[in-house]
Amino acid sequence: MIFADLWEDLKPYGRTDSGFRRYTWTRSDEQCRKWFIDQAELRGLAVETDRNGNLWAWWDVAQDVTQGAPRRNAVVTGSHLDSVPDGGAFDGPLGVVSALAAIDLLRDRGVTPQRPVAVTVFVEEEGARFGLACLGSRLLAGVVGPDRARELTDDAGVSYADAMAGAGLDPAGIGPDEDLLGSIDAFVELHIEQGRALAVIEPEGCAIGLAEGIWPHGRWRLDFTGMADHAGTARFADRKDPMLPFAATVLAARKAAEQRGALATFGKVIAEPGGVNGVSAAVHAWLDARAADEETLSETVSTVRSDGMRFSAEHGVTLSMRQESATPVVSFDPRLRERISAVLGAEVPVLPTGAGHDAGVLAARVPTAMLFVRNPTGVSHSPAEHADLADCEAGVRALAAVIEELACR
Ligand code: GLV
Ligand code: MN
Ligand code: MN
Repeated sequence: MIFADLWEDLKPYGRTDSGFRRYTWTRSDEQCRKWFIDQAELRGLAVETDRNGNLWAWWDVAQDVTQGAPRRNAVVTGSHLDSVPDGGAFDGPLGVVSALAAIDLLRDRGVTPQRPVAVTVFVEEEGARFGLACLGSRLLAGVVGPDRARELTDDAGVSYADAMAGAGLDPAGIGPDEDLLGSIDAFVELHIEQGRALAVIEPEGCAIGLAEGIWPHGRWRLDFTGMADHAGTARFADRKDPMLPFAATVLAARKAAEQRGALATFGKVIAEPGGVNGVSAAVHAWLDARAADEETLSETVSTVRSDGMRFSAEHGVTLSMRQESATPVVSFDPRLRERISAVLGAEVPVLPTGAGHDAGVLAARVPTAMLFVRNPTGVSHSPAEHADLADCEAGVRALAAVIEELACR
C-alpha cells in the first residue's frame, strides 16, 4: 500500500471537528493500536506488545526465524499514535505510517533485512492524559519507576493502572526491559518538523532534516489555593482570589523566559470550583518550560516560582509548585547522524528542537537519530500542523534508505 492510502486509512480514528483526540487507553487509542496491528499483520510482521504496552512490529531476518535465534542488533523506527488535545494529524502518526510505508518500499525493491527491523508505537508520548510525556519509552528505559506510573491519574481521577487494565493490559508488569533495549543497535524516529526551519532554508526550503538534539524541558504543576466567595458580594479587600496571582504568574513566566531566550507556557488551567459567579477556591495550572541549556531552564523556572510566591502572598493565597516531569538535554548520536547524512546527502540540514520525543528518552540508552519532514505552517500541536504529500513521500524514501543502510547490508 502506498503512503497516501495508509495515511487516509488511519485518519478517521479520534478525529473531531476541532482536531485529533487520541488519548492513551481510550477508545480512539484502541482503534489506532488495532489499525497498526492489522497493518503490521497484513505485512506478515510479527507484532509484539512489550510489558509497557508499546507495540513492536518485527520484520525479522528469515534465517533467525528458521533457527529460532534471539533478536540482536535490531534497527528500530517508529513514533507514537496518541495526540495532544485537539492535535494535528502528523505529530506521531507520520513516523509510524512512514515506517510501514518504508518497509513496503524496501520489500517492493526486493531488499531483505540482515538485522531485525522493528516499527514501534510508543504509549502516552504526549502525556496528554496522565501528564508524563513519553511514558512508554520512559518505562522501557527505566527513567520512570513502575509504581509512580501506575499511580498517575487523569483529570477524572482514573489511575494509569486502572486505565491500562481497562484496555486489557496488565499494569502489574510495567517497568524497564533491559533485554529488549539490549537487542537494539539503533533507533531512528521520523517526525514532522515542529517549526519552520526547513521551510525557510534558501532558496526553496528542504523536505528533510536531521535532529541535532533536544532542549532540556519539563512540566511543573502549580496549585494556587485561595478562598471561594461570592462574585457579587465579596469586597475586593476581603478576597483571597487565586486567579490573580495565577494571572500575574503567567505574565511573569513569559517575561522570565523571553529575557533568557527560553520558552515558558501555561497551556492547561483548571479553576475550582469553576463557577462563573464565584471567586475560585483554587487554580491548578501547568507550566511547560524549555531552554537551550539546563542552567537557563532552571533559572527561568526559579524566577517563575519566586514571582508566583510573591504574587500569591500579596493576595493571601498559598502556592505550591512541584515538578511533574524532567527531560534532560539530548544530543543525538553524532556517528549515527553522520552515517545517515552520508546516505541522504550532505546537504540535509541538522536542526536543534525544543520538542520532546521518545527518541530523546531512548538516546540515553541506544544510538538514536531523528529525521524531520518539512512543515510549511511551522505550527504543531494544532490542526494547522501540515506536511505536503510530496514531502511525506520524500520522508518515506529517506527512512527506507536509512533502514536499508543500517539493517539490510
Ligand atoms: C511533545 O511533543 C512535547 O514536546 O511535549
Ligand atoms: Mn507532540
Ligand atoms: Mn511527537
